Amino acid sequence: MSHSLLLLPGDGIGTEIMVEVEKIIAWTNGEGLTDFSTDHGLVGGAAFDKHQVAVTEEDVEKAKAADAVIFGAVGGPKWDDVPYEHRPEAALLRLRKELGVFANLRPAICYPALAEASSLKRELIEGLDILIVRELTGGVYFGEPKQITDLGNGQKRAVDTQVYETYEIDRIARVAFDLARTRSGKVHSADKKNVMKSGVLWDEVVRSVARDYPDVEFHHILADNAAMQLVRNPKQFDVMVTDNLFGDILSDAAAMLTGSLGMLPSASLGAPDPVTGKRKAFYEPVHGSAPDIAGKGIANPIAMIASFAMALRYSFGLVELAGKVEAAIAAVLGDGLRTADIGESNRKTIGTEEMGAAILSK
Ligand code: NAI
Ligand code: MG
Repeated sequence: MSHSLLLLPGDGIGTEIMVEVEKIIAWTNGEGLTDFSTDHGLVGGAAFDKHQVAVTEEDVEKAKAADAVIFGAVGGPKWDDVPYEHRPEAALLRLRKELGVFANLRPAICYPALAEASSLKRELIEGLDILIVRELTGGVYFGEPKQITDLGNGQKRAVDTQVYETYEIDRIARVAFDLARTRSGKVHSADKKNVMKSGVLWDEVVRSVARDYPDVEFHHILADNAAMQLVRNPKQFDVMVTDNLFGDILSDAAAMLTGSLGMLPSASLGAPDPVTGKRKAFYEPVHGSAPDIAGKGIANPIAMIASFAMALRYSFGLVELAGKVEAAIAAVLGDGLRTADIGESNRKTIGTEEMGAAILSK
């Protein structure tokens, strides 16, 4: 059966790394391993230059109709002065909201070849494979009221509001427990129930979901302790589920255990369709458009390619093929090939195209 992919390369290195994914798609289609039809759209500055908006209605509709969206990165100094509502990042927020992708999956994997060269203690990170499941569409980033008021005496008051409802916590918890079943079978839920009412509800709901998964080991952890433990002994974790704010911070901390931003993929999933059971899905590297290296052909395409591997796994059930793509990445690193961002002083580095080709040939 044919599956549709909408490719949104965006700006800067987004366009350069997407090309390498397209080569892999062409190859898997050619081998009869997949039957993807691909369409392209403009997002971010690229869309603004042509249509004066960060993403067109037509492309939003295409994203909603696609089986999966593969997104590069948006932004850059060229668009610093465009009106706030049309800034490149607006495309990302709009698409996440329209697709209702509330579950952000951020794996932090440390490839053996990079563990050797890391400045971190090797035994701490070698074989690391954590999945942080971050709630993406609720919490303090979206809650109302959200404002700054002038108190008139030279003082101002800023308010952000953390809001979570039962259904929002329930559905993200279920994503985490379902994923844990496909991995080592362990979930940590991080909140601050000691000082936050939203944390109390978070814990209550996650615990009730945990009762539906007696086969999955469940642990509660306070979010500040989770930060400390991620640095002290990260391999104790498998799946960690947490809210939007803590997830933002904890996933960045976990990310740094793995090497470079250029290595980190992500997936954002929506609720299963009541009829087809399929989830809306959005796959993107964690990094941005890297204006400092855009156009030089030296960007690391691994985060982008690994995001595509996540699409194979989570949207299309092609678990074995996803594993092969990931194994190809590990093998290429094992051969000593490095882009500049993961380069070591005694090693020659290669460019985006060479890295893409090396992964494809594996
Ligand atoms: P960035 O992630 O683009 O770059 C940070 C640093 O990491 C830079 O030195 C860059 O060269 C390096 N880097 C990032 N990805 C790399 C890769 N694949 N290979 C090699 N090196 C890589 O973050 P920055 O500089 O803060 O933001 C640049 C622009 O990207 C801004 O306009 C920002 O708003 C936007 N941005 C977009 C995101 C998205 O589209 N999801 C996410 C983060 C930032
Ligand atoms: Mg962040």
